[in-house]
Amino acid sequence: MALADYPSSPPTLQASCHSVLETVGNTPMITLEMEDFPHLQIYSKLEALNPTGSVKARGACFILNKESDNGRINQQTTIIESSSGNIGLDLAAYCKKLSLKFICVVDQLITPYNNMLIQQYGATIEQVHHPDKNGGYLLNRIARVKELMGEIDNSYWVNQYGNVLNANGYYHTLGREICAEVDHLDYAFLGVSSGGTITGISRRLKESFPQIQVIAVDIVGSVIFGDRPRKRYIPGIGSSMVPSIIQHACIDDFIRIKETDTILGCIELIRRHQLFLGGSSGSVFAAIKNYFTQYPNPRPLYVLVLFPDGGEKYVDTVYNERWCKDTFGEDFAYPPL
Ligand SMILES: Cc1ncc(COP(=O)(O)O)c(C=O)c1O
Repeated sequence: MALADYPSSPPTLQASCHSVLETVGNTPMITLEMEDFPHLQIYSKLEALNPTGSVKARGACFILNKESDNGRINQQTTIIESSSGNIGLDLAAYCKKLSLKFICVVDQLITPYNNMLIQQYGATIEQVHHPDKNGGYLLNRIARVKELMGEIDNSYWVNQYGNVLNANGYYHTLGREICAEVDHLDYAFLGVSSGGTITGISRRLKESFPQIQVIAVDIVGSVIFGDRPRKRYIPGIGSSMVPSIIQHACIDDFIRIKETDTILGCIELIRRHQLFLGGSSGSVFAAIKNYFTQYPNPRPLYVLVLFPDGGEKYVDTVYNERWCKDTFGEDFAYPPL
């Protein structure tokens, strides 16, 4: 197979955006061939190519714009959210651009990378130190958000787990984009954490492709689909509470992936497909393989997969074999090169 020709002369630059943040969306969609499943036509949407590096740019941007338009947010509003991950980064960037104050409530498990970036974007970090009754930090982070809401006049809690605008953002942006890019889909595999992406996209996909099967991908130890809570190490997928917005999602089935399979999924994506992606991408990739091994279906099938972020944030974990062994046991190993 030949690579596409690189254009011999560069196109004339035409600046159409005044900020990189305006380039959100219209991410590339590429097809993947899976050797073991030649009947699957996989369409993968590369959300790491959003300006802040993840799918969450869409939700953050949509919520802030909508709430500004309807007057719930103004120039004096303090935005508050509980996040140690991508939505924290995205809100920090968009709040900076819009000159809004942003307080990001995190816990001590936040990575140095995210901590640095959220602060460089100009947000205030508020750290929760004590674990909650479940042994995690989520409940205490949310309790701190509520305290701050009480203390600060004109504050706005983004509340990605319960804010229908979060899901609406994905319905109107990513969902619409995907439906314009493909003529037919049989399946969609979507990772779940706050439930925003799956709720928005599944509703939009069902409108254009009523027969599509939407498969939610969760991680062992996440309670979203009823598993017992257990310590999880890879962020971005799973949750220690059931997100309320997910009740509006159109989910046909779910599959739960082990974190070791997430890692093997990431390694296969980089080695076979040259895709350097985050943990939740490895999870959905592993989910496709597990699902079609469990339910073989030899007819040609068109499958959408969403890859939410890139691998850079995971170099000390998923992409560090020593960390993998220390975390999951000495028997764990990457496949031989
Ligand atoms: C890397 C990554 N993948 C997947 C998701 C899941 O998306 P959602 O929270 O919309 O369910 C998130 C959410 O934070 C994420 O950061």
